[in-house]
Amino acid sequence: MESIVEVSGLNLTLGGKSILKEVSFQVYKGEVFTILGGSGSGKTTITKCLVGLYRPASGRVRVFGKDVALLSQLELDELRKGIGYVFQSGALFDSLKVWENVVFYHLEHHSMDREELKSTALKYLNMVGLSEEHLDLYPSELSGGMRKRVGIARAIATEPRLLIYDEPTSGLDPITSRLIDELILWLRGRTGSSAIVVSHDLVSAFSISDRLLVLKEGRVLQVGTREELLNSSIPFVREFLKKGLGNFSV
Ligand SMILES: Nc1ncnc2c1ncn2[C@@H]1O[C@H](COP(=O)(O)OP(=O)(O)O)[C@@H](O)[C@H]1O
Ligand SMILES: [Mg+2]
Repeated sequence: MESIVEVSGLNLTLGGKSILKEVSFQVYKGEVFTILGGSGSGKTTITKCLVGLYRPASGRVRVFGKDVALLSQLELDELRKGIGYVFQSGALFDSLKVWENVVFYHLEHHSMDREELKSTALKYLNMVGLSEEHLDLYPSELSGGMRKRVGIARAIATEPRLLIYDEPTSGLDPITSRLIDELILWLRGRTGSSAIVVSHDLVSAFSISDRLLVLKEGRVLQVGTREELLNSSIPFVREFLKKGLGNFSV
């Protein structure tokens, strides 16, 4: 199976504190891979290492076959173009309209006609279930679920090979959360791209993931399929899943 992400023996120290410890995992092309773990376990930090925002103390991070630490700034920019990042906070620009947020990258980098860009924005908004009437709204005029959708539309507007979603369902009601789950699966199917999802919503994670990683205090406890995790021999993993899944079964 082709790997698009390969992390091996990754150690990262921030502010004098060891945050990631000997983290190793691979993400295969086309799969939905979820990073699970409690708050502060290092989930977001792992994704930041993938896009080259942190320099590891040791270990190797390869994305699309390239060692992230060895890339020049130009090569790193090129790599990031292939990655759509959906931020936990949404990270929309409040002073920009919905459509400007969606094609922000294009507005910055291309001298395309604004009307042309607006119709590009509409294409991606349609994919996430929004429409023409949302184009000229400001983020403050949207519900939490709609803001998440706009964040996803922006992430897919560069047609990335890899989408990273940081807590895509946090703060959303259960029904909206399931819609976002379906969207993640639909987008993966549509483009054949891969997805890395950071989550502490276990029900959601178990519904959409091909494989999952359980992180605890910066260490990988287990990587495996849903069945492998449910039959884990590691007491912490079993307890963690039991607490988060309740009566859910795969
Ligand atoms: N820039 C930073 N400097 C120092 N410590 C950090 C920094 N970013 C994150 N941390 C610490 O790293 C740990 C993991 O953070 P994070 O990856 O955000 O956790 P998660 O996403 O799993 O909730 C936390 O203890 C956090 O306080
Ligand atoms: Mg986080």
